[in-house]
Amino acid sequence: MINEFKNSPVIPVLTFNDVNESLKISEILIQEGLTNLEITLRTPNAMSCIEAIVKEFPMANVGAGTIIKKEQLLQVQNIGCTFAVSPGATSSLIQEAKRIDMNYLPGASTPSEIISLIEDGIFFQKFFHAGNSGGYKMLQAYANIFEEVQFCPTGGIGQKDFQDYLNLKNVVCLGGSWMVNTKTMSLNDIQIEAKSITSVI
Ligand code: 3PG
Repeated sequence: MINEFKNSPVIPVLTFNDVNESLKISEILIQEGLTNLEITLRTPNAMSCIEAIVKEFPMANVGAGTIIKKEQLLQVQNIGCTFAVSPGATSSLIQEAKRIDMNYLPGASTPSEIISLIEDGIFFQKFFHAGNSGGYKMLQAYANIFEEVQFCPTGGIGQKDFQDYLNLKNVVCLGGSWMVNTKTMSLNDIQIEAKSITSVI
């Protein structure tokens, strides 16, 4: 999983409810080189959107986000997700991901949460909510403490600071929704934003 993320280290975190819109936006992002997509399970049609995107763009690495119930792991695996992301973690989520052999990225923000994941053998962790948990400066401090842990910070990251995160030695990739805001951005705006990201990563 880490290698796929290293190849395209900015992961759009997408909340879709309309299948057609989800396909149009995903096409733009993938064409521009953002080939790792996280679709959150926060809308009634999120699963249908994921299913359509997986079918239409087999070259992309499509994962599901906001996994908070263990049953969701098998559901998203069955519709073709290649990874699953949670804002936090519990032992039942971790055990279920292991049982079904799903690439699983659980979240942590405090030292105790990070240590707890280390105890579960998880050395690639989502740092959530990055912006409200000390940002890249906190991750920089964690690099000296948790030398073996690699992070995917997510939450509150934007155009202004994503490169600061990517420059850290303990950051493999990061997630964010800033490149897609369907309320304020046209498809053209999304393409321009995606291009501006891929031109520097
Ligand atoms: C999320 O869970 O929505 C992600 O962390 C994205 O956060 P963002 O919208 O602040 O980028």
